[in-house]
Amino acid sequence: MPIKICVFDAYGTLFDVGAAARIAAGEVGRHALAEKWMELAEFWRQKQLQYTWLRAITDNHIDFWTVTKNGLDYALERTGLDGDMELRERLLALYWELQAYKEVPKMLTTLKAAGLQTAILSNGAPDMLTGAVESAGIETLLDEVLSVEDIGIFKPDARVYQMVLDRFGCKADEVLFVSSNGWDAAGASGFGFETAWVNRAGEPMDRLFAEPHHTMGDLTDIPKLAGL
Ligand code: LAC
Repeated sequence: MPIKICVFDAYGTLFDVGAAARIAAGEVGRHALAEKWMELAEFWRQKQLQYTWLRAITDNHIDFWTVTKNGLDYALERTGLDGDMELRERLLALYWELQAYKEVPKMLTTLKAAGLQTAILSNGAPDMLTGAVESAGIETLLDEVLSVEDIGIFKPDARVYQMVLDRFGCKADEVLFVSSNGWDAAGASGFGFETAWVNRAGEPMDRLFAEPHHTMGDLTDIPKLAGL
């Protein structure tokens, strides 16, 4: 079936999750962070994601903002930066206004001009997603922003991907799902979506139950995958 809807993961896919630590590290007086921001960003992201999986499999759901704060607190302690409460607040504030990757507005504009529908499907809480979408200035380029908070379980539970079919009344093979998380692309492939893994860092393929159908270095060629 031709692709009718392009659905995007949010954090790491449309929005640069490394930007919070990177921007804070460039601010005046943040010498300790300047040395460790990459390590901090990596631990923050890893723990944030691990906590979503652990909460999903133990039926202990909590909103993604709490998980994001929990992951940051772990990462700050792990890197020895946990005494600086002002830094913690600054990093959390920056998370609400993450930059979109530079190719995002043009890519979404191309999809919309061709009559395709576009959406975000994210673990993010609705208010976090609103903040990121508005600060990136892409609200008019998205038909829908779907948050797992509506069903209370994180990706890659199949009920999350089902939200797209319920919202758009479409079939799974009419959806192109795009994620920078290999495990998320695998989950979506297993569900029946056409999938693209955006592998900016050249990481190895996850060894899981399914694989993404396409792999790309950034989002520029998504319209081609959608048949444009
Ligand atoms: C999201 C995370 C997984 O936006 O990146 O759902």
